[in-house]
Amino acid sequence: MSKKKIAVVIGTRPDTIKMAPIILELKKNEQYFEVLTIATAQHRQMLDQVLEVFKIKSSFDLDIMSPRQTLASMTAKIITGLDEIFVAEKPDMVLVQGDTSTTCIGSLAAFYNRIPVGHIEAGLRTNDKANPFPEEINRRITGCITDLHFAPTETAKKALLKENIDPNTIFITGNTVIDALDYTVTGNHRFSDPVLNAIIEKGTKIILVTMHRRENWGEPMTGACNAIKQLALKFPHLAFIFPLHMNPIVRDVVLPILKDQPNITLIDPLDYLDFVNLMSKSYLIMTDSGGVQEEGPHFGIPVLVLRTVTERPDAVDYGTAKLVGLDENRIFETAVRLIENEEEYKIMANAINPYGDGLSAQRTVRILKNYFGFTDEVVEEFIPQ
Ligand code: UD1
Ligand code: UDP
Repeated sequence: MSKKKIAVVIGTRPDTIKMAPIILELKKNEQYFEVLTIATAQHRQMLDQVLEVFKIKSSFDLDIMSPRQTLASMTAKIITGLDEIFVAEKPDMVLVQGDTSTTCIGSLAAFYNRIPVGHIEAGLRTNDKANPFPEEINRRITGCITDLHFAPTETAKKALLKENIDPNTIFITGNTVIDALDYTVTGNHRFSDPVLNAIIEKGTKIILVTMHRRENWGEPMTGACNAIKQLALKFPHLAFIFPLHMNPIVRDVVLPILKDQPNITLIDPLDYLDFVNLMSKSYLIMTDSGGVQEEGPHFGIPVLVLRTVTERPDAVDYGTAKLVGLDENRIFETAVRLIENEEEYKIMANAINPYGDGLSAQRTVRILKNYFGFTDEVVEEFIPQ
């Protein structure tokens, strides 16, 4: 049987981090697969940071990012750019990951060319189309088009079954975000920023903060920043480190509130190696990020989720994360309780990570081999333990 051509579409920081283990695993199986890595470059610098860490070179780069881009302008550029490549290259399958514009429009471009779609991290739902915006709808559109659904958890599989997706097309693989961590965390990591090395060497407890979500822009993000400022004032011995997303709309909110507090360090996005190593040394994480919510539990770091709903309820159910919303007082009070109450902290820190065991990419590629008829093996589903 001839090799199958798999087009892997990536565009932003998180989808590229989570796709990297699959790209590398497909390349290990080069007797079966030819891999085309297609970057929309919906993100530019933040995408390049990830490609460099994983030493992945894209086969095509649409280079679509523009400052303060709108959803519609991105959509137009992505669909025409991908369509041209799909027409010319005729891949046997298109893989997309997650919930970004690149994901949703990548699946649509594949559908228009009648190419089967595999969706990595399928089945995450809040059932609220405004939250996360526009990701909930991006996921649902992608789900309608998808032929193979790689669900990270049982919760995600159940959500797909509720939408009458054929059970034979859904596989629980775990989340490749955990596989990615195996490539990156080392015991004696030196950070590229000397400020971070100094904080680590002093042994100061670190509260790691990230925020970027569209539905939190403006007032909700302001509330969360006010809470962080109050926490920094109450706990001057703690170091708050906040790598700022490149999006200028996020910086417009965060900088005026947090820039002059001595124990708050505002820095540019860290490359993935620095970020996960910093996370592994943190005491507490406060974030509205999807990926960071999944990584924190792997290191036994409690996560306060700065959102009103989450499509990742597993970490909350397992007790490693708390959904604290965007209300200034609620965030402040929950964080204070956790910092001051060792028992409560330990319960969260010792909970099981529900997201993966580092074998998700392997499972995904084994399922692809079955799908194309190269093999006919039983692939055990991921079960958290
Ligand atoms: C996007 C995704 C979101 C994901 C997030 C991860 C959509 C609609 N949104 O949101 O789901 O959680 O990425 O970070 O797909 N910028 C740069 N350099 C970069 C990256 C971004 O300058 O490397 C700036 C640009 O001004 C750009 C803006 O950020 O226009 C917004 O980027 P965009 O991809 O549209 O949205 P995000 O908020 O990053
Ligand atoms: N991350 C990173 N550098 C940073 C902040 C985050 O490499 O400064 C990584 C983090 O480890 C996680 C991913 O980026 O894997 C999350 O991306 P983001 O929060 O932008 O998007 P989301 O997951 O919310 O879609």
